[in-house]
Amino acid sequence: MSIFRKKDIASLTKNATPLKRTLRTWDITFLGIGAIIGTGIFVLTGEGALTAGPALSLSFLIAAICCGFTGLCYAEFASMAPVAGSAYTYSYIAFGEIVAFIIGWDLILEYALGAATVSVGWSGYFVNLLSNFGLHIPTALTSAAGTTAGVNSFFNLPAFLIVLLITWIISIGINSTKRVNDTMVVIKLAVIVLFIACTIWFIKAGNWHPYAPYGWYSFHGGRAAGIIPAASIVFFSFIGFDSVSSSAEETVNPSKTLPRGILLSLFISTVLYIIMTLIMTGVVHYTTFARYINAPILAVLARTGQTWLSIIVSIGAILGMTTVILVQLYGQSRITYSMSRDGLFPKFFGDVNPKYQTPFKGTWFFGIITALAGGFINLNILAELVNIGTLTAFILVSAGIIWMRHSNPDQHRGFRAPGVPFTPIIAIIFCVTLIAGLNWETWLRFVAWFIIGMVIYFAYSKRHSKMNIQSASASTKKS
Ligand code: ALA
Repeated sequence: MSIFRKKDIASLTKNATPLKRTLRTWDITFLGIGAIIGTGIFVLTGEGALTAGPALSLSFLIAAICCGFTGLCYAEFASMAPVAGSAYTYSYIAFGEIVAFIIGWDLILEYALGAATVSVGWSGYFVNLLSNFGLHIPTALTSAAGTTAGVNSFFNLPAFLIVLLITWIISIGINSTKRVNDTMVVIKLAVIVLFIACTIWFIKAGNWHPYAPYGWYSFHGGRAAGIIPAASIVFFSFIGFDSVSSSAEETVNPSKTLPRGILLSLFISTVLYIIMTLIMTGVVHYTTFARYINAPILAVLARTGQTWLSIIVSIGAILGMTTVILVQLYGQSRITYSMSRDGLFPKFFGDVNPKYQTPFKGTWFFGIITALAGGFINLNILAELVNIGTLTAFILVSAGIIWMRHSNPDQHRGFRAPGVPFTPIIAIIFCVTLIAGLNWETWLRFVAWFIIGMVIYFAYSKRHSKMNIQSASASTKKS
């Protein structure tokens, strides 16, 4: 059936590309860390600690295991089909067009709304930092309407502006993107190490008891609590390692470089997260985070009395989140570039600007939508929607590895995920568990997003698909 028409790897890799190849293993690792460490650790840990108690580090570990197993599947796919488009392209090969479209549509949720989510976290620390210097943005312009009870807010102006600024950086080319990203990642890592070195001495083991006050999964005050629901929230912290595989067409020797970069960035981030959450829940009692929900790290520094450090950490957090927005918007523009190149999206999104060699117009189109989402939508709604979209993409990529090993065993793979089929099966089990930990409103929003996607596919993409046009002209030639 035409909706299941597939791409083959040979013709994909043969396709010449106008994008420049400049990225190496450490560039990919830095892009990965740039994408991974951000709002999850700097902001969502507050909500996570209130949901799981001191067992938050265990929630992080569960989310990390989920991403580790999925990361192995991503790495194998990236080594097999090192072309732009990430999970979208992988599923075009494994399952066919309609599944690829669904994944691409999911990835828009992950990258565009992900960047919007992070811009809201960025705004929280930014507003806080400004207030340290006596500067105040009018409250109405610091968050979306209805974000904080009793506060009359309307629009998140800092979130809106930071997305536009980064859209501009990306739209003018990969070299400036890489330079900006590398510098900010170094600062972000230095600040995290400094935070760890200064605060680890203040841990009081008593704060870790009781370790899991809400158990694995329970209901408190009408909402899900416990280790699993917290893992479903902080899963957001790991999103991003997959986005680097979208840079395959700009990577030197991608079949080795991409798997190394993906796994290395995931490993480094996981180690830092576990140490940080042990410190956070060890220095203050987890209930304290209720008062620091927008900037939970600052609760720790208020307790240790290191106020000098809170300005440095705020700057690190702001820069850290900036790189996340950067990589997410970058991934976004490359996904829509790939979908447009395949005819599933209008040509507009795939036009490469001759001067900058980037998909300039598509980058700006989604940049503006993302900026508006950051300006008008609440952080938790955005984060949960991003998580469900990403988890769904992870499930399809993991299933794709099982299917490809079965249907295409002789295909060259620069990297083979160990333990297949168990590795992808474990990844799928973890993803389903984390989806179950999200709230039902998120499931409904996701179903609505899915339906809109299907309407676009059947109304536009199916007919305009390059594969449709190719098969139509092949049959005309025959007759
Ligand atoms: N993992 C990224 C963050 O936490 C999306 O900000």
